[in-house]
Amino acid sequence: MSIGEERLARRMARGVEFLGSETAILCGAMSWVSERNLVSAISNAGGFGLIACGAMTPELLDAEIAATKTLTDKPFGVNLITMHPQLFDLIEVCAKHEVTHIVLAGGLPPAGSLDAIKGNGAKLICFAPALSLAKKLIRSGVDALVVEGMEAGGHIGPVSTSVLAQEILPEVAAQVPVFVAGGIGRGEAIAGYLDMGAAGVQLGTRFACATESIAHANFKKAFFRASARDAVASVQIDPRLPVIPVRALKNASSELFTAKQREVAQALDEGKVAMMEAQLQIEHYWAGALRRAVIDGDVDNGSLMAGQSVGMVSKEEPVAEIIAQLMAEAAHALEKRSND
Ligand SMILES: Cc1cc2nc3c(=O)[nH]c(=O)nc-3n(C[C@H](O)[C@H](O)[C@H](O)COP(=O)(O)O)c2cc1C
Repeated sequence: MSIGEERLARRMARGVEFLGSETAILCGAMSWVSERNLVSAISNAGGFGLIACGAMTPELLDAEIAATKTLTDKPFGVNLITMHPQLFDLIEVCAKHEVTHIVLAGGLPPAGSLDAIKGNGAKLICFAPALSLAKKLIRSGVDALVVEGMEAGGHIGPVSTSVLAQEILPEVAAQVPVFVAGGIGRGEAIAGYLDMGAAGVQLGTRFACATESIAHANFKKAFFRASARDAVASVQIDPRLPVIPVRALKNASSELFTAKQREVAQALDEGKVAMMEAQLQIEHYWAGALRRAVIDGDVDNGSLMAGQSVGMVSKEEPVAEIIAQLMAEAAHALEKRSND
C-alpha cells in the first residue's frame, strides 16, 4: 500500500466502518436509475449502493430489494422519500429484508419514522441542509448525515457544497459520520472533504451513466455532451407555490415545468387542492418527467436531472473503474501532502 493509499484508508476508516463497505463512497439514490443493477454493481465494486424507492409501492420496493440481494451479498441501503403516503409500510418492507441503512430524503423525518427505523435495527441517515438542522437531527438520534450542496443533480438547496462543508463539518463531524455530496467529480475533491472531517462522500451524476446503469442510451449521450453550465436549476414561477428547485440539463422540459406550475397554482387559487397536495403533484410531475428521460430516452421533453459535475462524465465506464479512478486520484492527492 502506498503512503497515499494508507492515508486514504485511514481517512475513510470511520465511513467504511459505518457503512460496512470497502470504501466510503456512496452512490446517491437516483430515481429510476438506482435500481437493482446499478445498486448491486456499486456495492460489488466496494462502494455503497442505495435503492431509490421514489414513488414505488411497498410491493415494488419489496421486489426490488429481493432482486438486489440476488445480485450482491455486500451491504446496500434504501432511500425513502419522507412525503411518501405509505412511508411506514415501506419502513416495514425494509425491516422484513433486514436492510441495514435507510436514508430519509425530502425533509425532516416525520413523527414516529425515526423510532420505527431505529427500532427495526437499521441505521438512519438524513440530509442536513443547514448547521442548525444538522444539530437538531443529531439531537433527535440520527446516525449519520449527508451534507449536499446546490451543485448536485436532482432536488437541491440554495447553498454550495463548499460552504456547507465548512459550516457543518467542524461543528458536528466528531459526533456522527458526515458524508459530503454535490459537485464531486474527482478524487482530489474527495481527499479535500476527508481532510475537513468528512467520513466519506456521496456521488450521483458521476455514476448515472455507468455501464451497469439502465439509463437509456439517449440519456447517457446527453450527459457525455454536456458541460457544467448546462446543468441548471429550475425556476419557480409563482411565489405562492414554493417548489424545491431541481438541477437538470437544459432542454424543452423547462417549459413543461412552467406550464405544470401554472396549472397547479391555479388549482390552489381555486381551492381545488391544498398546499400539501399541490406540492405532491409537483413531485409526481418530476418523477414522471425523469422516467421519460431515463427509461423512454425522451431527452427533449423528459427531465435530465444532472449535477454540475456532468462535464466530468465523458464516457460509459464500469462502476468498478469509476470507483478505482476516484480512489487513485484521492490517494495521489494525499500522497503529495507533506505530512500525514
Ligand atoms: C438523475 C438523478 C436523480 C436523483 N434522484 C434522487 C432521489 O430520488 N432521491 C434522492 O435523495 N436524491 C436523488 N438525487 C441526488 C443524488 O442522490 C445525489 O445526492 C446527488 O446526485 C449528488 O450530487 P452530484 O450529482 O453532484 O454527484 C438524484 C440525482 C440525479 C442526478
